[in-house]
Amino acid sequence: MKRNTKILAIETSCDETSAAVVRNGREVLSNIISSQIDTHKKFGGVVPEVASRKHLENISLVIDEALQSAGVEMKDIDVVAATCGPGLVGALLIGLTTAKAIAFSCSLPFIGVNHIEGHIAANYIEHIDLEPPFTCLVASGGHSHIVNVVGYTDYEVMGRTRDDAAGEAFDKIARALGLGYPGGPLIDKLAASGNRKAIDFPRAFLEEGSYDFSFSGLKSAVLNYLNSKKMKNKAINTADVAASFQEAVTDVLSAKLVKAALDKKSEYAALAGGVASNSRLRELLKQRGEQAGIKVIYPSPGLCTDNAAMIGCAAYYRYINGTKSDFTLNAIPNLSLE
Ligand code: KG4
Ligand code: ZN
Repeated sequence: MKRNTKILAIETSCDETSAAVVRNGREVLSNIISSQIDTHKKFGGVVPEVASRKHLENISLVIDEALQSAGVEMKDIDVVAATCGPGLVGALLIGLTTAKAIAFSCSLPFIGVNHIEGHIAANYIEHIDLEPPFTCLVASGGHSHIVNVVGYTDYEVMGRTRDDAAGEAFDKIARALGLGYPGGPLIDKLAASGNRKAIDFPRAFLEEGSYDFSFSGLKSAVLNYLNSKKMKNKAINTADVAASFQEAVTDVLSAKLVKAALDKKSEYAALAGGVASNSRLRELLKQRGEQAGIKVIYPSPGLCTDNAAMIGCAAYYRYINGTKSDFTLNAIPNLSLE
């Protein structure tokens, strides 16, 4: 194996077309992200068929740009990687098929990467000395998992959502408040001017000792609150609703992550995924981590949301472990981490 391994990584699991060149796992030479948010905004969420079409239109341009801005050519690349799941099947297929075709035609090894593993790996890029084990909350539009990261390719899922993902809950409440898509950053911004104690929305901590999540009860409580105000023709303070809703979500996420990290005697509690950008989640987690004697880490916002650099990083650790995927590997929309 070469000591200077350059991976071309591709990510197309949802609504970002992304390609990156990553050297030796943690050095990002380029990370190009073409977002489809403006296209999906008018529909209030991601339309899978539209996402696939947009990936198809953009993928070659994004790859060319990733190579160019890294200052490399295909002859300098050692491994090609792509997200193979979980995600939207039609969207995944565009990146995966492209990666397999490039690897095959250039006689390079190909590695399929789990998208959730990629989110976790974003922490290695940001924190150059970080090594497993550590405990990580992966909270995005599609997943809410508490993971004990045992090794670079070895995971124990301690808890997961039983209904909506955290980001999904943010997106749905933002829509109900008329804020637009994606809802997480908009609620985060609006909540800054609201009172997080204004409305006591329910927190689902579930059974004693459970690391699972449930956000459907909270979502219904917010929708009921909005409807009852409307029926009574009463004014709604949307900033207070946003702040109180955000407080209920981040209270549960941060409490469970710290408890899980204590349970595993982890030195670090890490955040990953789009929701990891949430300012209140970061703040609460810092406070609670400090009280518990646990170091709290998270990637910068650009590495929290979907990007190919995190896929290149995860692929590197698979590669040095001796993993190589077969060209028959298909997209797996519900791929699990364990
Ligand atoms: O990881 P990601 O880019 O895509 C998935 O794998 O799903 O996460 C996107 C999700 C969206 O639901 C978005 O609303 C949420 O992350 N998000 C946030 C924030 N920024 C993005 N949620 C709460 N607060 C934020 N600041
Ligand atoms: Zn994601």
